[in-house]
Amino acid sequence: MRWERKDMLGIRDLSREEILLILDTADSFIEISTREIKKVPTLRGKTVVNLFYEASTRTRTSFEIAGKRLSADTINISSTTSSVVKGETLIDTARNLEAMNPDVIVIRHSAAGAPHMLAALVKPPVINAGDGAHEHPTQALLDMMTIRSKKGRLENLRIAIVGDIAHSRVARSNIHGLKTMGAQVVVAGPATMLPRDMALMGVEVHSSLEKALTGADVVMMLRIQIERQQQNFFPSLREYARRFCLNGRNIGLAKEDVLVMHPGPINRGVEIAPEIADGPFSVILDQVTNGVAVRMALLYLLTGGRGF
Ligand code: CP
Repeated sequence: MRWERKDMLGIRDLSREEILLILDTADSFIEISTREIKKVPTLRGKTVVNLFYEASTRTRTSFEIAGKRLSADTINISSTTSSVVKGETLIDTARNLEAMNPDVIVIRHSAAGAPHMLAALVKPPVINAGDGAHEHPTQALLDMMTIRSKKGRLENLRIAIVGDIAHSRVARSNIHGLKTMGAQVVVAGPATMLPRDMALMGVEVHSSLEKALTGADVVMMLRIQIERQQQNFFPSLREYARRFCLNGRNIGLAKEDVLVMHPGPINRGVEIAPEIADGPFSVILDQVTNGVAVRMALLYLLTGGRGF
């Protein structure tokens, strides 16, 4: 199949075939990052603008590396060092960037829907690098790529997503993607962090970590957003860790070949014990490696590549 969309704004609207096209294309790019000369001329002469209104280590760096490995010129704009600090609106920023003829704009923004507004305004393709608590599509794609490469499939796997489900764009994108690909999704977290409409999305919902872990093929632990402690979503970090930290004892409830995942950044000892994050079940750094390949695939497909 051919990629037909102008933008990559979310996983929710993607078909199984579109997800497979991205994952297959990413698989074909992974080898480039293992070469001594990690560069191909595919996007020579193209310009990729990374516009980040929120902090990022993995996503921003891997978009920059992905562009560079495809020989694109990559420009990073951070809200703290741009005219955003002088009060320039997103719309004015977008129009000024468009006037410089970029070929792709990647945006991370704290407001849900900001990439959609940008995509409606500008001609070049827009990629959502995370918008508020809405979606983080490239994270879900790299997560699916990692699971598929380790397990050989996504269908019929029991995948537990644990933590602050209500405020997590990673959880939302993964639920959409994994359900589309035929996985069985289970979520768990404190009742205050579980959205009421979860069951409508076709996922199993638990307020017990142990129930979610039982028989899991994959466990995805989410970062607890420390800043939410002030909002009384949970009594204390110690209480959260007592009930929801993945550790050397409760991991035994999952399948013996379980994969442990985390989008990062990690709060060690809060949602995941260090010995699990660094242990034999962890594929956390594989996720980061695959993130470069997924972003190479999207830059390639959105600039007219036909896929593999
Ligand atoms: N996983 C993720 O989005 O990490 P960053 O916030 O560092 O980009």
